[in-house]
Amino acid sequence: MSKDNKDNETIIELKAITKRYGFGDAESFALHNFDLDVKRGEFIMIMGPSGCGKTTLLNIIGLLDKPTSGEYLLNGKNTERISSRRKARFRAKEIGFIFQSFNLIPNLSVIENVSLPLIYSGYHKTRRLKKADDILEHFHLREREYYMPYQLSGGQQQRVAIARSLVSNPSIILADEPTGNLDSRSSHIIMEELRDIHAQGNTIIMVTHNPALTTYATRVINMLDGEIDTDIKTVDDSELPRPGDPEKISVRILSKKRPVELEIDSQTKVVVSGDHVTTENKENNKKASDTKVSKKTRKEGKKKIKTKKKES
Ligand SMILES: Nc1ncnc2c1ncn2[C@@H]1O[C@H](COP(=O)(O)OP(=O)(O)OP(=O)(O)O)[C@@H](O)[C@H]1O
Ligand SMILES: [Mg+2]
Repeated sequence: MSKDNKDNETIIELKAITKRYGFGDAESFALHNFDLDVKRGEFIMIMGPSGCGKTTLLNIIGLLDKPTSGEYLLNGKNTERISSRRKARFRAKEIGFIFQSFNLIPNLSVIENVSLPLIYSGYHKTRRLKKADDILEHFHLREREYYMPYQLSGGQQQRVAIARSLVSNPSIILADEPTGNLDSRSSHIIMEELRDIHAQGNTIIMVTHNPALTTYATRVINMLDGEIDTDIKTVDDSELPRPGDPEKISVRILSKKRPVELEIDSQTKVVVSGDHVTTENKENNKKASDTKVSKKTRKEGKKKIKTKKKES
């Protein structure tokens, strides 16, 4: 499938973003001198230990929070110069948030909850409900459309919340551990839906603690103490071998620190975890190879050790 040149467009550009909380002795940095370029159509997974700044990063990208310093360009425009009214409009139309907690409105039915973001679309109510009905069908929730949120299980509520954040067809999806409290079948439904949305050319930035999900991503960023530790570009979907392809192909995994060449076939799954890229057999999940791509010295307390160790 040929993609148009819009694909190479940078839509999100963070330059030396810092987010500071507190002053003096209580001062701490949720993000520190954070640089990031996101191209249209990337599917980025963000990983890293609790408290390293992942949610802060998503909130800043999604215009829910402002950095303490640095520059954030969205579609080439400096977000500091965008009025709050325009930001709110952009958020409603172009950004889909999927949060860890689902925040459904308790006294509205499932279908009403899902159609809510379309209020801004200008569609008539009938059309809004039709669109909500369509996406609920996709999430296997149509038979529960007229339930109230309290009548659903936690996993079902999360799926409703995800349907709601996707109903307006946003071009940027920001997801904070969307599958964190779901069983593996529900996670699979969500991930397949995100994969479809990505295939349509949309940009996804998703936080996860689950390395198994990195196979869905085109780029995996590991954060540590408010900074990027590793930034690994995995293979493009279009380069991956298809089922039935007999040959092994050689793929190049780009890491900021060290690119890796891997031989894979259609039965191979590529998983990025921390600074390791491993390959596994899709059927039995048996590990086939494990390559270390970088090494970064950890910070001790607040002091940063600047020495860079060389790869052997
Ligand atoms: N409103 C706030 N006031 C003070 N500190 C805050 C505030 N919000 C976040 N922080 C701090 O900023 C750091 C980053 O928080 P953040 O929520 O982004 O982490 P996270 O990577 O999303 O963690 P988790 O995986 O647990 O969700 C943490 O140390 C947190 O305590
Ligand atoms: Mg978080």
